[in-house]
Amino acid sequence: MAKQEDIFKKVISHAKEYGYVFQSSEIYDGLSAVYDYGQNGVELKKNIREYWWKAMVQLNDNIVGLDAAIFMHPTTWKASGHVDAFNDPLIDNKDSKKRYRADVLVEDYVAKIENKIEKEVKKAQKRFGDNFNKTQFLATNQRVVDYQEQVTSILKRLGQSLEKEDLVDVKKLIEELDIACPMSGSKNWTDVKQFNLMFGTKLGANAETAMDLYLRPETAQGIFVNFLNVQKTGRMKIPFGIAQTGKAFRNEIVARQFIFRMREFEQMEMQFFIQPGTQKEWYEKWKENRMKWHLSLGMGEDNYRFHDHEKLAHYADAAADIEFRFPFGFKELEGIHSRTDFDLGSHEEFSGKKLQYFDPELNKNYVPYVLETSIGLDRMFLAVFSNSLQEEELENNTTRTVLKLPAVLAPTKAAILPLVKKDGLPDIAHGIIEDLKWDFNVTYDEKDAVGRRYRRQDANGTPFCITVDHQTKEDNTVTIRHRDSMEQERVAIADLKAIISKAVDMRTWLLKMK
Ligand code: GAP
Repeated sequence: MAKQEDIFKKVISHAKEYGYVFQSSEIYDGLSAVYDYGQNGVELKKNIREYWWKAMVQLNDNIVGLDAAIFMHPTTWKASGHVDAFNDPLIDNKDSKKRYRADVLVEDYVAKIENKIEKEVKKAQKRFGDNFNKTQFLATNQRVVDYQEQVTSILKRLGQSLEKEDLVDVKKLIEELDIACPMSGSKNWTDVKQFNLMFGTKLGANAETAMDLYLRPETAQGIFVNFLNVQKTGRMKIPFGIAQTGKAFRNEIVARQFIFRMREFEQMEMQFFIQPGTQKEWYEKWKENRMKWHLSLGMGEDNYRFHDHEKLAHYADAAADIEFRFPFGFKELEGIHSRTDFDLGSHEEFSGKKLQYFDPELNKNYVPYVLETSIGLDRMFLAVFSNSLQEEELENNTTRTVLKLPAVLAPTKAAILPLVKKDGLPDIAHGIIEDLKWDFNVTYDEKDAVGRRYRRQDANGTPFCITVDHQTKEDNTVTIRHRDSMEQERVAIADLKAIISKAVDMRTWLLKMK
């Protein structure tokens, strides 16, 4: 089995074992691509959401929040283009009877070529050591240049065929690239067909009069239909943004990658309303801003890259993904889309209501242009969780499993451990918890030897272990152990709050965006 697959399996089983993510309705054998978050998962998810909300809403005086309903009037989805254009191109393998997204089959093929490029880079890096110049190598090594040309030409053709809805050519491309079914190895493919991803449901008790509804496939439309409500009641002046987090639903066909691609998931989206003609400038600004947000979490610059879209969604005039290095390779984590005036313009047309802004600077009315940032909360969870899970070789030839979550996001900030279950040490530990719990999520653990308790907290992602011992009774000090370095120091109980705050405060982390 490939190493990547092994790592990914470990991520999934660790997420379950430590109460982060469970399969939905597991006692009934689960529901495909639907997941529940356990006692730790719900905290990590909440912290990621808050980290995003603070960066987008609290720290920007021209961005406000919204919480729109999941159900929306069905015409919304006609206007947004989702009824007609929110499709995936699907292809079936006639032998294995497995269904795939045709574009994903091609993209996976491309990812294999990109892996070869990365291997060449690593080999050369080893050979040339400090003298290695990656940019020069990528531009001059013939084998790498050939691989890169292959990638560009395949993606260009795929983009153009999808753009023109030329599904015959998409099938032709799959055949020309000799792509086989990953399950059976067969190359016996059906034609490519479009499949709409929205879930339908009904509103009302009477079968004849019930209204057909959709579960929203993106949260963005709740923002567009409320554009004027917020602009007028908040007296917002362009440029301004509306941010929202909430559930979205898609009947995904390729749903094999744990919480990477789910049928019910959560998005964190922000629509930034701007003057027409300024979209290029804002597109660059938001790309930069969002990348800074990711980098502020300290998960490694090399793990991110931008990918500009060849095939643009029906609403966009420019779009890029921030891709992250997941255990199964670089994949989309967040999208930044220049959505023009498509959505507001279309809602004007379908609703018959004006959705315009009077710009005192230009002294005229217009339909604003929109710059969107859109990130999946669950996908961000997977990025953080998978990147943090590490197996470390220790000096005494043992290994430890440690979940090096950014401390600001960790579900539990500190575990308070009495060295023994007697001599009044548990009472002191409980006293510390009573004091700290107003500011942080903390936990108590007295079971097993203290070394095993440290390991348990390491695997759980807890940044600090605070041990109460007999010296504590003498001088009100405890040892504080740092998860990542395993270093321990003796500190006063009175200083604990300040020490933990310094490490987990969102302010400290978000200031890194500056
Ligand atoms: N409003 C624009 C929009 O929805 P998108 O690229 O389709 O754009 C935005 O989705 C983000 O939502 C993606 O970058 C991804 O992080 C997340 N996302 C999309 N589909 C998802 C799914 N099925 N499961 C989990 N996250 C998903």
